[in-house]
Amino acid sequence: MKAVLIAWTATQLESLRLVVEAEGYQEALVIQRSPNDTLNLLLSNLNTDILIVECLTATQAQDIATLELFNASNPNVVVLMLSQTRDAETLLAAMQAGVREVLLTQPSASDLTSSLRRFATRKKASPIKAETHGKTIAFMSCKGGSGATFLATNFADILAKDFGKKTAFLDLDLQCGDAAYYVSPGPNQSDITELTRQIDRLDSKLLTASMLHIGPNFDLLSAPEEPEASYTMSAAQLERLLDLVEVNYDMVVLDMDRVLDPLTIKALDMSDVIYLVMENLLPFVRDAKRLVGKFRALGYEDNKIRIVVNRYEKNGTIDIAQIEKAVGLKVSHTIRSSFADVAQAINTGVPITEVNPNNAIVQVLRDMAHGFDGTHPKRVLSWIDRFMGTQS
Ligand SMILES: Nc1ncnc2c1ncn2[C@@H]1O[C@H](COP(=O)(O)OP(=O)(O)OP(=O)(O)O)[C@@H](O)[C@H]1O
Ligand SMILES: [Mg+2]
Repeated sequence: MKAVLIAWTATQLESLRLVVEAEGYQEALVIQRSPNDTLNLLLSNLNTDILIVECLTATQAQDIATLELFNASNPNVVVLMLSQTRDAETLLAAMQAGVREVLLTQPSASDLTSSLRRFATRKKASPIKAETHGKTIAFMSCKGGSGATFLATNFADILAKDFGKKTAFLDLDLQCGDAAYYVSPGPNQSDITELTRQIDRLDSKLLTASMLHIGPNFDLLSAPEEPEASYTMSAAQLERLLDLVEVNYDMVVLDMDRVLDPLTIKALDMSDVIYLVMENLLPFVRDAKRLVGKFRALGYEDNKIRIVVNRYEKNGTIDIAQIEKAVGLKVSHTIRSSFADVAQAINTGVPITEVNPNNAIVQVLRDMAHGFDGTHPKRVLSWIDRFMGTQS
């Protein structure tokens, strides 16, 4: 494995080199930066597995912008940034640029070693989870109103009803999540932050008692009514909650916020598949491209990311081939607009299967669910089947 180290002083470079080589990286290329070197110049044509860059406060914003571009075109390189500060603003900007971790300048050998080992474990981690763990599927909209919540809630309903999967839905749109209203009269008393606040005593019993039971196989954990409640939640607490949910359910469906903050990144890291929901309009294409670049920078394989074009218009100005070319990924599903049925489902707080089980959207969601199952959905009897006494 190769490493590239860029720092401002020879001593910093030397201490980095010693740790990196002790962790099995060979050919560590050390580059001492001078005020005349832009990071952009130093990063051209690099061939490496890991990049460690020291940034000074004065040029940090520019360096982070450069790292974002670098990450977008080098998705497999793990980037670790050394910064003079680790305030929330720096961490967020770095994470959004796809930097894997930020350490303070002149990190101790043990901190740096721990980071390198975390990367190694993550690279080796099999994308297939233990059999006992549920699969986690995240839905994220490229732009507000793409249809992520509608599709995610109805996907969960179909997994539970048609495929008999014990399904948990977590509303991780913590600032303005309202998923419960899409498939029920509304949330119950508990919300996700009440569970993370009690993480040390959280067990399967408390988890089940806190869920809103939408159907025999379909439980939902809503977002807090007050967005401020989410500020108390840490990524470590969310990880423990998700671990417990995965052990207790066959399938876990997440409705995500679009902002790639540490909580969102934790949930996406733990997801097996991310459905990115967009429309075939230019602003959505731009955002889809940007998000796919960030996902790659976070180290996600392309087969984890699935593009869904919602409200798809066949004769729209942008066709599927153009979307695929711009975004750099195949479109996995297209979903037609169906205003009357969708509006009725949302306005009455019921899944679309209860408004019109034959709606084309239901069929596409069944195809998506089928991809995680391998078995055919339990057949839903039509009135004529029931009349004729056909067995399911
Ligand atoms: N295929 C569709 N046909 C018709 N209407 C749709 C379709 N998909 C979604 N909608 C409508 O679009 C609106 C926005 O959907 P939704 O709330 O699911 O979007 P979102 O991506 O979750 O938005 P936000 O980013 O604000 O969370 C909803 O009112 C829903 O009725
Ligand atoms: Mg939503």
